[in-house]
Amino acid sequence: MSSPESQQAHHDFVQANKIYFDEHADKLEQEHPQARQLGIICVDAMRDYYPALFDKERTKVLDYACGTGLFSLALRPHVKHIVGLDISQVSVDIYNRKAAEEGVSEEMEAVCATLEGKPGELLDAKFDLITCSAAYHHIPSIEDTTRALAYFLKPGGSLLVADIKAPPDGKELFPKKYHDVVPHRNGLSKDTMRMVFESAGLVDFEMKDMPPIKIAPTGMDTVWFIARAMKPGGERI
Ligand SMILES: C[S@@+](CC[C@H](N)C(=O)[O-])C[C@H]1O[C@@H](n2cnc3c(N)ncnc32)[C@H](O)[C@@H]1O
Repeated sequence: MSSPESQQAHHDFVQANKIYFDEHADKLEQEHPQARQLGIICVDAMRDYYPALFDKERTKVLDYACGTGLFSLALRPHVKHIVGLDISQVSVDIYNRKAAEEGVSEEMEAVCATLEGKPGELLDAKFDLITCSAAYHHIPSIEDTTRALAYFLKPGGSLLVADIKAPPDGKELFPKKYHDVVPHRNGLSKDTMRMVFESAGLVDFEMKDMPPIKIAPTGMDTVWFIARAMKPGGERI
């Protein structure tokens, strides 16, 4: 019989997430009533910690794993333009519908795609800021993903990730029903995030805690973090 670690190594988390979020996107806010508020809290913390990264006249953002747009909607008033990207087509459709309903389709639009960090992807666009909220714990190879995201940053641009911090006692944070879609069940530690960001070639790594919040999937008080690093070169913000 194979070990849980080996089963996890062979499980296709990307495909499982795509199926899960295609199925749950339209009821996400019923299943997780705090999701909209979480988007606001993450944007507020990012703006509070790194105000210079948000310029309404200039900042072009890639919101990676954008889901149905809850984080992007909170971010939109503070930046010039947002491209959302997600692997779930249903989530992307809801994102674009919400943007249309709010009359902000010119300012935020989402696409369904996967990224490798290669020429030709995303029409060769480069971004001042890349954000990812509440999604790194769903991504099996955060090393590969961070490397791909670093490719899409302009020199001097920043990557900001909001996610759940690994508690010091190493306890598992997600109940069994989420194990199919959450490879990082113990959250993410500062050491892991530093290693992942730095091996993607990003510099000036920092990770700061957000105020403690209770999140339904974990059922307990969790500490969320904002991790940030920059692509070398260009104008340093
Ligand atoms: C909990 S939702 C967060 C959505 C959004 N960032 C927000 O804060 O409202 C997680 C999202 O990550 C997406 N996702 C999961 N695995 C992914 C992957 N490997 N690449 C890109 N997106 C992924 C899911 O489709 C889902 O929309």
